[in-house]
Amino acid sequence: MKHTTEVMITAEEIDQKLDILAEQINAHYADSDRLLMVGLLKGSVVFMADLCRRIKGHVEIDFMSVSSYGNAMTSSRDVKILKDVQSEIQGRDVLIVEDLIDSGNTLNKVRDMLLLREPKSLALCTLLDKPERREVDVPVDFIGFTIPDEFIVGYGIDYAEQYRNLPYIAKVVPLED
Ligand code: PRP
Ligand code: MN
Ligand code: MG
Repeated sequence: MKHTTEVMITAEEIDQKLDILAEQINAHYADSDRLLMVGLLKGSVVFMADLCRRIKGHVEIDFMSVSSYGNAMTSSRDVKILKDVQSEIQGRDVLIVEDLIDSGNTLNKVRDMLLLREPKSLALCTLLDKPERREVDVPVDFIGFTIPDEFIVGYGIDYAEQYRNLPYIAKVVPLED
């Protein structure tokens, strides 16, 4: 598709939002001794890198990779683990870190999978939320920006694997050819 990109959220706006999110997270986990931040590959990598550097105290980071595919029989979506976390989850304070919540299917399934391992607590943080696209309800504890249903890229988020390296969030605008 021929397209161009337009800045939607600047690097500076992201930076300011991360300070606010980190303040909320630091307050929430003030009494936690071994917070485990779990990012979902690949989209969350840039956000995770910037967010974890603002979190105080003993913090560990880990990553999971999941694939989501449609299930023709139930018209729902299944999520398969491609790469699991290496960390023990049981008894830990776990914070899932995502770049974007769209339908909610990815986070909903990952949340269920991690809950089976009996963490001490499980919370969700997303930089971006598109509530208009939600298919399943997911309780989200920390949200950076609530955005309309736009096609976005940058700051970890891709379009056909491109644009993850943009330091800002951009809107993809289709062009006539
Ligand atoms: C994107 C995004 C979220 C997920 C949100 O990941 O990074 O992880 O989709 O969609 P959902 O709420 O409808 O499940 P994607 O599957 O494109 O993988 P990527 O992170 O490697 O780009
Ligand atoms: Mn993702
Ligand atoms: Mg993607």
